[in-house]
Amino acid sequence: MEHLDPLLEPFALKSLTLRNRIVSTSHEPAYAEDGLPKDRYRAYHVEKARGGVALTMIGGSAVVSPDSPPAFGNLLLYRDEIVPWLRRLTDEVHEHGAAVMTQVTHLGRRTSNYSGDWLPLVYPSPLREPAHRSFPKIAEAWDLDRIVSDYADAAARCAAAGLDGIELMHYSHLLDSFLSPATNHRSDDHGGSLEARMTFPRRVIRAVREAVGEDFIIGIRMSMDEDRPDGLQRDEALEALRHYVADGIDFLSVIKGTIDRDATLAKVIPSMGTPAAPFLDFAGEIRQAIDIPVMHASRISDVATARHAIRGGLLDLVGMTRAQMADPYLVAKLAAGEEDRIRPCVGANYCLDAIYESGDAKCVHNPATGREQQLPQRIERSTGPRRTAVIVGAGPAGLEAARVLGERGHRVTVLEAADAAGGQLRLAASAPRRRDLIGIVDWRLAEAKHAGVQFRFGAFAEAEAVVAEEPDLVIIATGGVPNRTFLTVGQDLVDDTWDVMDGSVHATGDVLVFDDNGAEPAMDAAEKLARTGARVHLVTPERALAPLVGSMNSPAYLQAFAEHDVAVRLAHRLVGVRRGADGRLIAELYSEYADRTLEQTVDRVVVEHGTLPNDELYLELVPGASNRGEVDHRALLGGRPQELRTNPAGRYQLFRIGDAVASRNVHAAIYDALRLCHTA
Ligand SMILES: Cc1cc2nc3c(=O)[nH]c(=O)nc-3n(C[C@H](O)[C@H](O)[C@H](O)COP(=O)(O)O)c2cc1C
Ligand code: SF4
Repeated sequence: MEHLDPLLEPFALKSLTLRNRIVSTSHEPAYAEDGLPKDRYRAYHVEKARGGVALTMIGGSAVVSPDSPPAFGNLLLYRDEIVPWLRRLTDEVHEHGAAVMTQVTHLGRRTSNYSGDWLPLVYPSPLREPAHRSFPKIAEAWDLDRIVSDYADAAARCAAAGLDGIELMHYSHLLDSFLSPATNHRSDDHGGSLEARMTFPRRVIRAVREAVGEDFIIGIRMSMDEDRPDGLQRDEALEALRHYVADGIDFLSVIKGTIDRDATLAKVIPSMGTPAAPFLDFAGEIRQAIDIPVMHASRISDVATARHAIRGGLLDLVGMTRAQMADPYLVAKLAAGEEDRIRPCVGANYCLDAIYESGDAKCVHNPATGREQQLPQRIERSTGPRRTAVIVGAGPAGLEAARVLGERGHRVTVLEAADAAGGQLRLAASAPRRRDLIGIVDWRLAEAKHAGVQFRFGAFAEAEAVVAEEPDLVIIATGGVPNRTFLTVGQDLVDDTWDVMDGSVHATGDVLVFDDNGAEPAMDAAEKLARTGARVHLVTPERALAPLVGSMNSPAYLQAFAEHDVAVRLAHRLVGVRRGADGRLIAELYSEYADRTLEQTVDRVVVEHGTLPNDELYLELVPGASNRGEVDHRALLGGRPQELRTNPAGRYQLFRIGDAVASRNVHAAIYDALRLCHTA
């Protein structure tokens, strides 16, 4: 039957019928345990299947050999023990109507020499990978022979596990490094002409096809233009692909570019502040040039663009990968006519940066993603009594509490002192490049209103006013205020990053930005100051710039800093600021390594040292609370309701969340709220 929405049309991929056109492309969230897709990994993909995805690709960069050690928690396809785990995952995904495949690769140099079994990394040529700082050895003939059979064995394991297919990774890993003239400098029979450079990947494809038989689906995820002058160009890529198809490739997932350094990776997986779907037209041109089905993902985060990709014949299958990390129920909502309720992927790329920052992928504003075993993606209505809740503060934490308590069916009022929702996030989103962050606020506000939550803006809440609402539950989400207390000399002479972002400081001349947080706020302020004409001197006590800003988010800052000559001084701590005779400011910068203080004269000093909790209201409400503000951590972590009654005379339960507790990031604030409120 023809569907009105092209996105919901089924698609035949070889003998497999996909229920619609939306897929989740291969990505490694680092949820594997012992290199195996155990319960957490399975729960993550099964949730997408429940949410309606047509095909979920697991095992981003799942590895075939021990000398391709995991760089970011990859699945180990060279272990036989993986088969039963893959089988369980496959069966459960199938039960929910989706298909499942895995990506298969040898990472080559795109990993570390210092992980897994510490075997030397191999590559066609001895070229260092900037992203992982690895120096590989030149692959010898015996290396290539064993890797070919490792590929075949890994593919056979995938077929034995009942997967619907596999996808060979062919960009910035080992296979493509032989094809690309930029990385293959060999003078033997594997280097030189296109034919010679194709030899190794073609051997792998043929061996894999032989191992799995004719019916099994084998795709390739391939850079069809490496976007570098010395790299693989479109014509050669197409020529190689035609040979690959003859060797047994069934579908193509189009990539443009390379990912061997932060700057290029950030282009292939673009963040907020960049155009939507930058390579969609390119993928469409490739589709015209070949005869196999084409999928593609790259910042197609909204349904309208995805629909255009299918309706316009640019793609057969559209990858919405981060979009479904943000909302695994994207397809279900689309099918139910609730497109406007899809939680938007705002392009923060915290999902990727979190792998390196805190060990695994996390969506900046969906704490249930990757935690499906503990937290619900869909909030169930409470079966208990309807409670009256007052939430103070409409930043991300307060809004999440409001949304969740509203969905639970409680009577919820939010009191917010400002005239709009958003709190600190509104400041972050004031940077033009990071404007999309406001989606985190707007979606929650709309969802909370949809659930019947009442908002009172411009309402500075006093304790009496809160108690007058006769609440059963009070949640304090009042956020924090910039912390300057670390500075014992000259606190009153400095500005903070909030002053810069809210526009109250328009600095010119020399501005010293001192970052003792390590996250985005100082980077945002420095970028804004530099772009508006100040000469910025960024100083940090760290040994690297902004260590909490990962490889996906740092390129845009570094670009701005390079364009505007921002000077960076590492390993110095701002210890005092005083006014000089000429009216300028003298910043005292101490090095604990050299044990000496140097002075720098500037026009302004801007500091970033996190926030101090805005906790007066909370502290006033503690004596009247039945739990005196105490959180039962066991219940919280065990997914049970909070039932502590340390003060039987108390008339309400009291909790605080987000920066009203301590200075942390948006994800932590929203996570606080969800795990506290989903059982309330
Ligand atoms: C956490 C994470 C890990 C990823 N790992 C891989 C990977 O191992 N292999 C791969 O080909 N792509 C990987 N990707 C890229 C995605 O498959 C996809 O191309 C990218 O997210 C852009 O598509 P989107 O805008 O729909 O998210 C990863 C993406 C994310 C968010
Ligand atoms: S962290 Fe950001 S980019 Fe990643 S899925 Fe969530 S909203 Fe999208």
